Amino acid sequence: MHTKGSPSCCCSFEDYNLTTEWLLNHTSQRPKVAVICGSGLGLLADGAANKQTFRYQDIPNFPVSTVAGHEGCLVFGTIEDTSCVFMQGHFHLYEGYSLCQVTFPVRIFKLMGVETVLVTNASGAICPDYKVGDIMIIKDHINLPGFAGQHPLFGPNDERFGTRFPCMSDAYSKDLRRLAGQICSELGCSGFLREGVYCMVSGPNFETIAEARMLQVLGCDSVGMSTVPEVTVAKHCGLRVLGLSLITNMVSLDYSREEKVNHDEVLQIMKMRAEVLQRVVTELISRCSINTH
Ligand SMILES: *[C@@H]1O[C@H](CO)[C@@H](O)[C@H](O)[C@H]1NC(C)=O
Ligand SMILES: *[C@@H]1O[C@H](CO)[C@@H](O)[C@H](O)[C@H]1NC(C)=O
Ligand SMILES: *[C@@H]1O[C@H](CO)[C@@H](O)[C@H](O)[C@H]1NC(C)=O
Repeated sequence: MHTKGSPSCCCSFEDYNLTTEWLLNHTSQRPKVAVICGSGLGLLADGAANKQTFRYQDIPNFPVSTVAGHEGCLVFGTIEDTSCVFMQGHFHLYEGYSLCQVTFPVRIFKLMGVETVLVTNASGAICPDYKVGDIMIIKDHINLPGFAGQHPLFGPNDERFGTRFPCMSDAYSKDLRRLAGQICSELGCSGFLREGVYCMVSGPNFETIAEARMLQVLGCDSVGMSTVPEVTVAKHCGLRVLGLSLITNMVSLDYSREEKVNHDEVLQIMKMRAEVLQRVVTELISRCSINTH
């Protein structure tokens, strides 16, 4: 992978091609669905059968996770009859990766024949009605780093992936959002299901109170440090996207309020809700190939 040249465009088509060919040579799986597992949601792959795991460091050109103790594996497997690939461990802008590295796997999925990408993440609630443990279907996003020129599609456009000026008004598939809502209500979890706008900030610091208030004014329901670059690149190359975000904390909007959180309680809720999220994703995978487009 080239590191010189335009800072966000470091991979040539040949890089993507080589990695794809390598994976196609090493697995007989031909995934239709890719799942990008958020922090603490790596277990999503556990329900898959016929699993085959590759460590990122063994895959040519693949970025390698710098965070000690972070899983960094690509897991292939099947759920019901659907062939899937799971990304366990992913790359953040704040770790120093270029956005081309952050989004590298998405284009590999595209070249392997994936049609649908499910992104899961954790985020902090800006919307005061939300509660810790809520599951938010991402309806739309705000790409704040993109506004400032930190954008994964900066640089020469490769038409083999998509158009120069991609439309983003329908980045999150309406059909998949509806299906996710339906599955949640079948599983009895409509009570903590939300649909809202996710805002990406670069991090690594959490928001100041003034920043959090600004995000609220801008119409953000939750805020996190990931997901948007992957979704942008997925949409650019014509993949269908669903994003689910687990609310892990309430972002402070008030100078006077002393946050009193019971950490044991929060951890317990998160554990339960991560399991719910896993069931939702499993259901989605087994049904989303039927309900196409
Ligand atoms: C990689 O490039 C070769 C040669 O251009 C082409 O035949 C092959 O289909 C490409 N593979 C993928 C996965 O795009
Ligand atoms: C994939 O397998 C083909 C056929 O064995 C071989 O020619 C090619 O070099 C392999 N490509 C990679 C990237 O491993
Ligand atoms: C999701 O967002 C949280 C909060 O911003 C961030 O700390 C975390 O690394 C992200 N994880 C994934 C895998 O998306």
